[in-house]
Formats: sequence, structure tokens, C-alpha cells
Amino acid sequence: MVSASWLLLLGLCCSASAGGEQRGGGKPSEPRRLQSGGDEERHVLERTELSKRSAALNEQTCTALSGVEAALLNNTNTFTFKVRTMGSLSLAWVGDGSGVLLVLTTFQVPLFMMRFGQSNLYRSEDYGKTFKDVTHLINHTFIQTEFGIAISPDQSGKVILTGDVSDIAGFRLFRSQDFGLTFVSNDLPFEPLIQMLYNPGDCNTLLTLSITSELWLSEDFGATWRKIHDSVCLVRWGPKNSIYVTTNNNGSCNDKGMLELRKTVDYGRSFQTIATRVYSFVLGGRFVFASIMTGMGTERMIHVSVDGGELWNMAQLPTVNHEQFYSILAANQDMIFMHVDDPGDSGVGTIYVSDDRGTVFSKSLERHLYTTTGSDTDFTAIASLRGVYMTSVLTEDGAVETVITYDQGAKWETLHRPQNSHCSTDTATNRPNRCRLHIHASYSTTMRMNVPMLPLSQPNAVGLILAHGSVGDAESALSPDVYVSDDGGYTWLLALRGPHHYAILDSGGLLVAMEHSNSPVNQIKFSTDEGQCWHTYNFTSDPLHFSGMDSEPGSRSMNVSLWGYRNDFSKWVVITVDFRKLLTRDCNEGDYVQWLAHSADPSGSNDGCVLGYKETFLRLRKDSVCWNGRDYAVTKKLSPCPCTVDDYHCDFGYYRPENSSECVEQEEMKGRPLEFCLNGTTEQLQTSGYRKIPGDQCEGGFQPDRKETDLRRMCTSNALHPHSLSENSSANTAVIVMVVIAILLLSAVAGVWLVKKYVCGGRFLVHRYSVMREHVEANKIEGVDDIDTHYMETGKAQYNEDSDQDLLE
Ligand SMILES: *[C@@H]1O[C@H](CO)[C@@H](O)[C@H](O)[C@H]1NC(C)=O
Ligand SMILES: *[C@@H]1O[C@H](CO)[C@@H](O)[C@H](O)[C@H]1NC(C)=O
Ligand SMILES: *[C@@H]1O[C@H](CO)[C@@H](O)[C@H](O)[C@H]1NC(C)=O
Ligand SMILES: *[C@@H]1O[C@H](CO)[C@@H](O)[C@H](O)[C@H]1NC(C)=O
Ligand SMILES: *[C@@H]1O[C@H](CO)[C@@H](O)[C@H](O)[C@H]1NC(C)=O
Ligand SMILES: *[C@@H]1O[C@H](CO)[C@@H](O)[C@H](O)[C@H]1NC(C)=O
Ligand SMILES: *[C@@H]1O[C@H](CO)[C@@H](O)[C@H](O)[C@H]1NC(C)=O
Repeated sequence: MVSASWLLLLGLCCSASAGGEQRGGGKPSEPRRLQSGGDEERHVLERTELSKRSAALNEQTCTALSGVEAALLNNTNTFTFKVRTMGSLSLAWVGDGSGVLLVLTTFQVPLFMMRFGQSNLYRSEDYGKTFKDVTHLINHTFIQTEFGIAISPDQSGKVILTGDVSDIAGFRLFRSQDFGLTFVSNDLPFEPLIQMLYNPGDCNTLLTLSITSELWLSEDFGATWRKIHDSVCLVRWGPKNSIYVTTNNNGSCNDKGMLELRKTVDYGRSFQTIATRVYSFVLGGRFVFASIMTGMGTERMIHVSVDGGELWNMAQLPTVNHEQFYSILAANQDMIFMHVDDPGDSGVGTIYVSDDRGTVFSKSLERHLYTTTGSDTDFTAIASLRGVYMTSVLTEDGAVETVITYDQGAKWETLHRPQNSHCSTDTATNRPNRCRLHIHASYSTTMRMNVPMLPLSQPNAVGLILAHGSVGDAESALSPDVYVSDDGGYTWLLALRGPHHYAILDSGGLLVAMEHSNSPVNQIKFSTDEGQCWHTYNFTSDPLHFSGMDSEPGSRSMNVSLWGYRNDFSKWVVITVDFRKLLTRDCNEGDYVQWLAHSADPSGSNDGCVLGYKETFLRLRKDSVCWNGRDYAVTKKLSPCPCTVDDYHCDFGYYRPENSSECVEQEEMKGRPLEFCLNGTTEQLQTSGYRKIPGDQCEGGFQPDRKETDLRRMCTSNALHPHSLSENSSANTAVIVMVVIAILLLSAVAGVWLVKKYVCGGRFLVHRYSVMREHVEANKIEGVDDIDTHYMETGKAQYNEDSDQDLLE
């Protein structure tokens, strides 16, 4: 976290504003048509399509689209808000396909501990083309930016605004169940600390914490409230209406390591303590993680449960000393990616991948970049192709290099140089094999490089990735360009020179981009062929200072809104372009071709086999200029594969050397018995070095020996009971000290998008806007330190994906 004074300086030097995106709960469920059983069919990959993909930036192969101006000019709407651009503005999409967008502008001045402010609420029913001022619906009540707009994740159109009427009655809820058309209000019997948390399983049930650490629950969508626990530090909804909390009997949440982890499955009528001496906890995928004091000084160990906290096991990970940390990078239904910090202040560590119990880990990637101070890592899950993750390593000579895995961490490799880009002559002549593409992600934005967006991928835009990158022997500090991959990261194309904001529309059928610049802009770029050819459209004759781009979550829309302001920081302007008139034709069968995912070697019979099966998708032809439509569903066929060495992670104590498929025993593990403690008894692992990747569905083929034998010897599989930890804990049990876990929770709380403006010479600060307010430490002065840096100049895109970080320390 960067200090407030630094931010203030930045605010004073007139830097342009930035846009950020908060999405998550607002995401529509991803439609998917799964067709299995088509095993016998042979799928022929259309190579001609692939070869056409290498067209270069602005090459003559790109033909101008005719009638762009004519088609778009009548479908470009400009709306100017009456409020000035000072303060903050947050956007929330309500429902999926409803076209309803709520905008809350808040101007607030922190004066010591008091707040003076004014909020305005606007509502659009036409995807942002026009707005109505509906501030009267909330009785002109001041809404603190921190609470913002709470949208139910079930797309049912529920909206909650938490109003501050402290001068008369404390806090008042404004609640809507009809997409913000009408609101009812009622006063809260407590002062809320965090935004209302919807139960993802039943959005009529809400939770929140009061500033006095009481946990309150409502089962009637906020009308009546019931206090269900005192002294709560952190609360999370779990699966099946369960609630997890950490509590402190003495009422201080700063006493970490003295907390109790408790759980209720009956909306707080009864609580069960599932762990004691807890430092912190995280829910992710099927797993519950807790860091628990061992009883020896400040040492803590990670414990994992797959049954909601009934039974715990210690994670089998290497021992670390007190200045190192652990971090969960991703967790899904099958497995966990865990980062383990190296000794010393190296900024690197090792990624370990877990088995399906989350207990036994094996090495996946060394020298993984993860700075201790900024807790920043480039680790990115690619949503458009299964099994694909990207991140950065720090090489021995200090260069940051991008690496990618296509099989859930079993193997990692560097990215190839895009055919239409070139390295500097120095690299090209002296180190030709090191001329590669490097992708900029969180680390670059933290380093304040000119990267306005993180890599972007969407499940319904199969194979597509947009990202900033540079070509060379390492990540370059120079201005990055935009690269596009249409095959999930195997090949890349230089798409746009210089940094841009970008968005995916019509399930990948249309890409749009805006240049990121400090001067006013009037041109939007778009591509109908997955980024090969870009066209431009002048959406206004009066250029505006661009703040951010927004479209309905889920990438099905054809409407994109450009937010900004004209000169002198006057008023917010939103310009919405509807591309529907450009793609007039609906796509038909002939517009789609079969595409085999993960195809790297078309001659091999196992081509496209990843995690035990092949997937053949129907994808839009690049040269088809047509509309996929809102109801477009990804069509794919699955066929099983025989097992090969690629279907296995290296087992506990083994690793894959660079360029190798074989697993080799770790030097430091040689001669050590592979024993670990599970459910209270010692298990001995007999392994030839391979363990099937969790979730892998391969059949037959390579089946290496692996056996876990119960040695019928008692051991301590957890440290939950103060005096039970003895020397029994085997050499392999991990003693974990200073554990920091940041988990990218897949479920998010609210789909809110945010544009903030930082005004030159402004006398006020912009406050953190986050659904994760509970992480704000108690000793921070409200409204001063409590500032979110991520929006400053980078406008960190998809912020919600990581704003939903939980820290398990
Ligand atoms: C645009 O709108 C104007 C007036 O509404 C109309 O006269 C004109 O024909 C339209 N142009 C196109 C290309 O639709
Ligand atoms: C709106 O404000 C007025 C005056 O402050 C108050 O009398 C009225 O009850 C409020 N209405 C709602 C719905 O809160
Ligand atoms: C409460 O605090 C006191 C002193 O600070 C300590 O002795 C006691 O054990 C604490 N109780 C609990 C339940 O943590
Ligand atoms: C569009 O705007 C750019 C400047 O941003 C200008 O150079 C160009 O001539 C304009 N094109 C048209 C067709 O007006
Ligand atoms: C774009 O917005 C219009 C309303 O202005 C709406 O009718 C249309 O469905 C939207 N298009 C898409 C694809 O969402
Ligand atoms: C791995 O392969 C690359 C290129 O194929 C080569 O440059 C590199 O030296 C190899 N690494 C090792 C450790 O063999
Ligand atoms: C450990 O306990 C879990 C949950 O009760 C059970 O599913 C699993 O089979 C047990 N494992 C062993 C090796 O006993």
C-alpha cells in the first residue's frame, strides 16, 4: 500500500483520471453447451484459417469496412451529467441483458472524523445511452462511496444502497427488487462497517458487520435484522448457506493468532467452533484454509479442510522461516496453486500445485516473481481456455520473463515472438533465442509502467486473450503495445501500437479499443476479426479526456460506453456507441468453423489432449462480419485421450527440469522417506514420481505406480488442539511462519464498475471503494489513509477479480 501523502502529491500534479473495473457478481452465468459422446467423430482442423492469422498490423490484407461512419453516427449517443467531475462515480449493471445501469456520483469532503457529502443517483435503461436523475428515489440521501451499490449476484434485479443519515437516524437502507425502478427504505438498528453481503445461494439473505464488530443477518432482504454474533473479525458466506467467521472473545481483532474460526449452517441460530488459535482463514474452491498457531512462538501452519472444517490436515509444504510467506494464487474445485516465498528478500519463490485433497504439494515453477512488499504477482488465469495460466519469473540475471502453462501447472514455457514484431537489433543479433514476447500484468501496473489494462479473456470468447506486452529478452520498461492471441496463448499477434483500453463485445465477434493518452481523444478502434485488422470511427467532433470504457459484463453486448470529460474538469460525459448497425447480419452455420483447442502438433494423434481430453469448438470465421447475438452459446465436443506423461504432475519430492517431461527426484528429498500425516495416521507414499493432475480425465495409457500405505502409526495431522502437537509430526510436515495467503476468490460480491477522477488542486481525497472494507485496519484514520491506489493512473482493469483478495496471513 502506498501512503496517502504520495497519493495526494499525485493528485496535485494534475494527472489524468483513470478508469477501473469491478466485476464479478454481476457476471452472468456462462452458458455452455456440452456435447460429449461424439467421440468417434474426427475433427479436422482448418489450417487455412490458422495460416491466415499471421496478417500483420495494418497490412494491405485489411480491407476497409464500408459505411462505418454512416452506420455508427446515428447510433452514437452522448449524455452529459449535470454533476461536475469532482468526487467519484461508480457504475453498476443490474441484471443480465436488462440494459439497466445505475450510476452513483459522490462528492465528499472528509473533515476530521466527520463527513460532508452529496450523492446523485442516475439510472439508464438503454445500456448507458441516456440517464435519468433518480436521486429523489433515495430521498437525496448521502451514500458513502465505500458502501456504493450492492447488486445481488443472482441477476434478479436486487439493489441496496446504504445511506448515511447520521444527523437524524444513523444509517438507512434503500432497497429495490425491480432493477432500481422503485426503492423502499428502512433504518438500520446498527452502524454498518462493510457493504451488505448477499448469500450467493439465496439473495434474500444478507450479512453485514457493524462498527462494533457485531454480525447482523437479515432473512427478508434487509427489512428486519437480527444480531447473530458479537466480536466478529471477518465474515464469509460459504457454500450451502453456511457462514464462516473469525471471532475474538476479548473483542480485539488485532490479537491475531488468538481468534476462533466458527461456522453456522442455520443462519446463526447455532455456531460450531471448527478451529482455535487461528490467525486468518480463506475459502476457495472446495477448500477451507486456516493459518493456525503451532503453540511455538509466532509460528503458524496452514491447515486445509475439504469438508467445511470438520477435519483438518496440515499442508505438506517445505518449511519456511519467519520472514517468508505463503500465498494461494488460485483455487478451484480440483486443486490449489500455492506460492512459497524463497528465503531472503529475493522477491521470488516457488509455485507448488496440490493434489485433490489440497494436502500434498509438488513443485511446479521456480523463481516465480512475487514481491514481498507489494504482494504483487503477474499470476493470471486465462478464462478463454481451460488449463491455461500465465505469470512471470525473475531470471538469474534479473530479467522479468513471462511464462505460460497449458496444463494446470504441469509444465511452463516462455512465449514465442509474434511473427509481426521484432526485437531490438542488439537482442536479435546477440541473443536470438531470447527474443520473446513478455506480457504486462499486475507487477507492471504496480511498477507504474504505462499499462492501463491487465490481460483480458472471457469464457465465451474462446481462445481469445488481449494483453499489453513487449518483445525482447525481458520485459521492457518502454511503452508497451497490445498483443492478441486467438488460441489461448500459443501464438500472438501485435495488434495495436501503444497502450490502449480494450473490451470484448459480442462473445469475441467484436473487439474495441481506445488509445490511452493524456490528450483528448475522439477515435475508437474496433476489429471484427479477433484483432488482425483494426478500423477507426470518430465518435465525436469534440474530443474528450477519456477516463474509462465500459460495457455490460459477460461480453455479449454490442454497446460500449466511453466515459470522460471535456476541458476544465467540468462535467461527466458518456458516449455510447451501438455497433449493432455495423454487424447487420446474424451469423449462420457457415460462419463457424471447427477449431481444436490446444492444438500444437497437428500430426500427432494426441494433438489437443490436455487434462485427458480434447475439445473441439465451433468458432466464428475471422472474415465473417456478422452478429453472434446475445444468446450465443459456446459449442464444443469432447473426446477422451489416453494417459501420457503429460497428464501427471510431478509427485511430492519430484520436479520437472526445464525442457523435460520426465519427473526427477529433488536433491534435498533423496533418501528421505515420503511420509506424511493424513487424518491422524502416517501415510507412506510409494511413488515413481508422477501424480495425476487433479481433474484430469485421461483413460488407459501411461499408468505409473503410486500407492499410499497407511503405516498404522498415529501422528498429528493438525495443530488445532493446543497440546497435541508433539515430535511426532514428521519431517515432512511444514512449519509455516509468516503466512500470507491472497486468494483470488471466484465468487465475487458485487458487479460494480468505477470511474474516478483525481482533480488538480482538489482539496479532497478520493476514498477507497471496495467491497472488502473489512481489511481496512482498525488503526487507520478514516478517509485519510484509506485510499485505493489501484485506480490512480493505471486504472487497473478487472479490479474486482483481485479486490476480492482475502489475506490469510
Ligand atoms: C440518420 O438519422 C437521420 C435523422 O434521424 C436520417 O435522416 C438519416 O437517414 C439516418 N442515416 C442513416 C444512415 O441511417
Ligand atoms: C425523505 O425525507 C423526508 C425529510 O427528511 C422524510 O420526512 C421522509 O420520510 C423521507 N422519505 C423516505 C422514503 O425516507
Ligand atoms: C482476554 O484477555 C486477557 C488479558 O488481556 C487474557 O488473559 C485472556 O486469556 C483473554 N481471553 C480470551 C478468551 O482470549
Ligand atoms: C478522425 O479524427 C482524427 C483525429 O483524432 C483525424 O485525424 C481524422 O482526420 C478524423 N477522420 C475523419 C474521417 O474525420
Ligand atoms: C444495445 O442497446 C440497445 C438499447 O439502446 C438495446 O436495445 C440493444 O439490445 C443493445 N444491444 C446489445 C447487443 O446488448
Ligand atoms: C531449453 O530449450 C531452449 C530452446 O529449446 C534452450 O534454449 C534452453 O537452453 C533449454 N534449456 C535447458 C536447461 O536445456
Ligand atoms: C480422511 O478423511 C476424509 C474425510 O472424512 C475422508 O474422505 C478420507 O477418505 C480420509 N482419508 C484417509 C486416507 O483416511
